[in-house]
Amino acid sequence: MIPTLIAQTNGRNGRAAYLPFGEKRDGALFNQSILSVKQFSRADLEHIFAVAGEMRMMVERVGSFDLLNGKILAVLFYEPSTRTSSSFIAAMQRLGGGFIPINEVKYSSVAKGESLPDTIRTLEAYADVIVLRHPETGAAALAAQYARKPIINAGDGVGEHPTQALLDLFTILEERGGIDGATVTMLGDLKYGRTVHSLARLLSLHNVKLNYVSPDVLRMPRELAAELDARGVRQFQTESLDDVLDETDVLYVTRIQKERFANLDEYAALKDSYIITPATLTRARADMTLMHPLPRVGEISPTVDSDPRAAYFRQVEYGMYVRMALLAMVLGKA
Ligand code: NCD
Repeated sequence: MIPTLIAQTNGRNGRAAYLPFGEKRDGALFNQSILSVKQFSRADLEHIFAVAGEMRMMVERVGSFDLLNGKILAVLFYEPSTRTSSSFIAAMQRLGGGFIPINEVKYSSVAKGESLPDTIRTLEAYADVIVLRHPETGAAALAAQYARKPIINAGDGVGEHPTQALLDLFTILEERGGIDGATVTMLGDLKYGRTVHSLARLLSLHNVKLNYVSPDVLRMPRELAAELDARGVRQFQTESLDDVLDETDVLYVTRIQKERFANLDEYAALKDSYIITPATLTRARADMTLMHPLPRVGEISPTVDSDPRAAYFRQVEYGMYVRMALLAMVLGKA
């Protein structure tokens, strides 16, 4: 049956979007791009996490279901990925939708020199939503200027990684039961790590204390710290984990971002700055939550994995539920 089409002007790009008649059109995220965590209020977060919790329940009960039957997701990755791309694909498949994976842009027309706007305008002819990872900060926002369909930022250079931050927050909620009152310590490459940029901003919507542990040259960007300071967030910067370990409720470890260094000798000098071992955990709180966006490349010893505080592989699974929630909401089905 051919659905009756109705026009709806939603103001995004000043263009009309055409929707099958009867499609649910309300909801905070419906037809919206997800570009930065700055777009979320605390009420939005509560809504997203409630839907993610329902997704988790449904996956545990039935595995897959047909909420997004007939919808197609394009996954366009200009940088390497294991978790982000495959969790979006798994999320779409568990919701009964289809997907177009382009994670080897060297085999696509990008290798012939096609521009990002042209690639986006092509994929949106086939798909209902596009997930984009790109090495340049602002690439997702640029894509959204050209697109009629929603763009989801899966990492734009050293800028943001909003869906990772959402899953990080969902992990803290699921593991600890709440976020308010927590002391969160971010450790590693706070300059180039986009996950901590997004996570610090999302945490600033809560009553938290943030500790930043990094080599001096990899500190949290000054503008971001100033942005949070203006919102009244308590922040503390140090080079030593020992200064803050005993007060830490959540330790969020990150990889030194090798691909962002112009000088690989500088990377080599910094890459082993911090290594979490079982000995580190003997000095940490018994109920601390140890997180990492992954991949890890030596900064958490695998001998830590069996410690119940090591939450990073559970974090991976929470990511799929959050991405299921986001896809359902963006496509107007939740
Ligand atoms: C992160 C990224 O791509 O920013 N990975 C991820 O999406 N889980 C972290 C990293 O690469 O270090």
